[in-house]
Amino acid sequence: EKGNYRHFMLKEIYEQPIVVAQTLQSYLRPLEEQVALPDMEFDLSTVKRVTIVACGTSSYVGMVGKYWIEQLARVSVEVDVASEYRYRDPVIEDDHLALFISQSGETADTLAALRHCKDAGATTAGIINVPTSTMAREADLLMPTHAGPEIGVASTKAFTCQLAVMAAFATNLARAKGRLTPEAEKDIVHHLSEVPAAMQQALEHDEEIEAMAGTIAKARDVLYLGRGPDYPLALEGALKLKEISYIHAEGYASGEMKHGPIALIDENVPLIVIAPSGPLFEKTVSNMHEAQARGALVVLISDAEGLKEAGDGLLATIEMPKVHPLIAPLVYAIPVQLLAYHVAVAKGTDVDQPRNLAKSVTVE
Ligand code: F6R
Repeated sequence: EKGNYRHFMLKEIYEQPIVVAQTLQSYLRPLEEQVALPDMEFDLSTVKRVTIVACGTSSYVGMVGKYWIEQLARVSVEVDVASEYRYRDPVIEDDHLALFISQSGETADTLAALRHCKDAGATTAGIINVPTSTMAREADLLMPTHAGPEIGVASTKAFTCQLAVMAAFATNLARAKGRLTPEAEKDIVHHLSEVPAAMQQALEHDEEIEAMAGTIAKARDVLYLGRGPDYPLALEGALKLKEISYIHAEGYASGEMKHGPIALIDENVPLIVIAPSGPLFEKTVSNMHEAQARGALVVLISDAEGLKEAGDGLLATIEMPKVHPLIAPLVYAIPVQLLAYHVAVAKGTDVDQPRNLAKSVTVE
């Protein structure tokens, strides 16, 4: 049921503080100030490499996971989309952990990749939302998300719940690898516990985002920029916008802009910049200024500190609460989703059932 919401997608965007809290509840032990995974029959400390395979929005969680796992656990990670992975004769060995991410647990390519890795002797793990799904049954380790049923075709709450579980996984792997002091783990638990409240604050910008949607809705092309763990969010923002509003959109790593995409920039191309303040901020803002100098209509999503440093001349800003970089992708997902939603509504498309798309892609 949609309740008072106009679309399932909007309802599901608004559910995120609750379902992410629910998901985190089964991975955080606040009293011990530790992160915990479900019981498993293998020893995480023996994992030499993590291979993450997924499709679409779920694959962007994998990309964020690469930043987190490499940084926290110092284990190298490869991420691939399932349709490429399964046909490219990948190197997989028995000290590799193959991690599959899927809302439905039924995506044909992801499932085929899981079976391929199992046959090759790798240990398999799944971050899966539908507990009765085929992937949930077949993975050696099931790490459930508790997003509840996701009805809107565009994934929203499953995405942020997947990120929450990914953060718990990266932390556990780091501990198993002897890379995490109890103090550092305590800090992570603390940061993760702050996610639901920070998401709630992010949701308060809904009306502001709605107000700028009309301008973006007139564009033919929209570019998204992000850096580090927020780069996959640029990809997610572009995917969400194109799938429900049918506006052509691309996400780029900020530093890649001058290697080609900057040629697209003129006063008709909105540029959505996802840039929390922090060590990477200055670099992204300098990429943003290059685009501004070429007439780009910039929407900057940052916190108060970042917005202050960014200067004037922006089309609009969306102010996020100041959060730890680890949890920024979860919080910044909200304005990215809301922007796509309101632009689609402004264009009058069928938000919950976009053309040509199915909720679960069970054929390749
Ligand atoms: C985008 C979207 C798709 C799915 C993809 C994978 O909004 O929903 O890109 O993320 O089809 O689906 P799952 O996660 O069910 O394997």
